[in-house]
Amino acid sequence: MAGMTDSAFRRLVKRHGGCGLVVTEMVSSEGLVRGIDRTLEYAEYTEAERPISIQIFGGDPEKMADAAQIVEGMGADIVDVNMGCPVPKIAKHNAGCSLMREPQHAAGVIAAMSKAVKIPVTVKMRAGWNDGERNAPTLARMVEDAGASAVAVHGRTAAQSYGGAADWALVADIADRLTIPVFGSGDCIDPEQVVQRLRSGVDGVLVGRGVLRNPWILAQAADMAAGRPPRAVTMEERGRFLLDYIDLLAGERVHDRAASHDRWVINKMRALGSWYTKGLDNGSHLRTAINTVESLDALRAIISAFFFAPVSFLPALSLS
Ligand SMILES: Cc1cc2nc3c(=O)[nH]c(=O)nc-3n(C[C@H](O)[C@H](O)[C@H](O)COP(=O)(O)O)c2cc1C
Repeated sequence: MAGMTDSAFRRLVKRHGGCGLVVTEMVSSEGLVRGIDRTLEYAEYTEAERPISIQIFGGDPEKMADAAQIVEGMGADIVDVNMGCPVPKIAKHNAGCSLMREPQHAAGVIAAMSKAVKIPVTVKMRAGWNDGERNAPTLARMVEDAGASAVAVHGRTAAQSYGGAADWALVADIADRLTIPVFGSGDCIDPEQVVQRLRSGVDGVLVGRGVLRNPWILAQAADMAAGRPPRAVTMEERGRFLLDYIDLLAGERVHDRAASHDRWVINKMRALGSWYTKGLDNGSHLRTAINTVESLDALRAIISAFFFAPVSFLPALSLS
């Protein structure tokens, strides 16, 4: 997930178990081909994350094939193509979900990539562009024929963005028609939903926002699927996760960012904080505190107070 599932976050989530595959943030094929440093950073991963899928976006078959070769050269296990992003900045460049509006062209992208690399090429798409163009079933078959090894479908249209509910009946129908594995995405916010959807006829589920709110969701779903009660997670463990995330981020790419590195870590914590604090008692206070903090020490102090000594949390706000 763009802006969220960086290498440090993926490593931390994997530590807790229940996670079969992680995917990078979406990476620009253009930036990969041109060797832009910031783009290459998005594609970085560590061995602890394997198996790892690097997701790329773009609309030009030749560039996407070249980018797939770069991804293969970086040692990734899978190269995934984003055909789901509805953001105009991406979609207007004939990439992301707008590829769904030109199915022949989209299949051509997959054919070019499949010829260019030995690693599996997979596709992430939405139900379609809008209600009048719910063409995921047709496009999924076309990319299968073009050489895709698996397809993931978020059961909403681009027009829906995140409104309404994901259409899991559509996803199950696609899974029924295709030979390659089909994964479903959308609204797996608690472990019960993950288990329920795993049993809906798909080959697997992608968990997005649920992991940002609760990084233990995959381990808890695995517990439930095995007939065990979902593991309980203490406030201390939730706090420790954030502190570990800060430590990992603080130790990364220091040479690249120099003076602005702390600011980058704070911004990353703010991004995660907006999801992570949802559903926690007094979560909005924590969110506000994280959003106003100006140093890593103050950030750590706020988190420690909130999770380890809640009675001292409100006074600790003055630390920011
Ligand atoms: C902040 C954010 C960033 C996302 N970035 C990506 C992305 O880079 N690539 C992608 O395929 N999907 C991306 N998605 C979509 C998710 O992968 C997923 O399909 C969608 O959120 C629905 O699943 P969920 O209800 O489990 O979150 C993103 C979603 C969010 C909320």
